[in-house]
Amino acid sequence: MQLTTARLSIDRLRAEDADDLFACRADPAVARYQGWRPARVEEARAFIDAQAEPAPGLWFQRAIRLRASGALIGDLGVCLPATPGESVEFGISLAPAHQGRGYAREALQALFHQGFDALGWRRIHASVDPRNASCMALLQSLGMRQEAHFRESLWLHGEWVDDVVFAILVREWKAEANAS
Ligand SMILES: CC(C)(COP(=O)(O)OP(=O)(O)OC[C@H]1O[C@@H](n2cnc3c(N)ncnc32)[C@H](O)[C@@H]1OP(=O)(O)O)[C@@H](O)C(=O)NCCC(=O)NCCS
Repeated sequence: MQLTTARLSIDRLRAEDADDLFACRADPAVARYQGWRPARVEEARAFIDAQAEPAPGLWFQRAIRLRASGALIGDLGVCLPATPGESVEFGISLAPAHQGRGYAREALQALFHQGFDALGWRRIHASVDPRNASCMALLQSLGMRQEAHFRESLWLHGEWVDDVVFAILVREWKAEANAS
């Protein structure tokens, strides 16, 4: 999967991205609500090496780059469902210097467009810690609905944390697109 937007190019992670991926994902502001927190650049290298072709039931990760410079500013993870028609899950991270500029929204709008309009996806969801205010706002801005709030359901980095699920169906995406 490759996506191009007005400002971004979203494509495969390359071996030479390891330093930038590590710098982004090891930043405490980015790592706070994430399961994967690389402690050393070697972990980012191994993560990139382990990337496989998109396949049912597995996560794959893409680099988010600025088209103007080619710089890696974040990453987008997608998990295709094991059974066709079930929900596609995503996760997104941006380096702090590139937050607050609409890049995450732009990347996800492109993902929704490709998934719903070209690839036949039926439903997309994301899971977020409710303390993660910028991510909650991002998901709402995409027209996603909050479907569930699981209290203290995940053990993450030494504490039980809540998990909120947001989702959108293809018909909801198309209705919103037609209304705007
Ligand atoms: C979640 C995360 C990707 C959201 O990033 P973000 O930069 O807040 O989201 P966007 O790129 O959509 O930017 C939206 C903000 O940019 C502003 N903005 C500026 N220019 C904009 C433009 N051209 N278009 C849209 N929004 C724009 C918006 O007003 C909004 O600001 P606000 O939050 O003050 O209202 C980011 O906070 C992050 O990487 N967090 C750490 C990793 C993480 O926790 N990920 C979640 C796990 S799924």
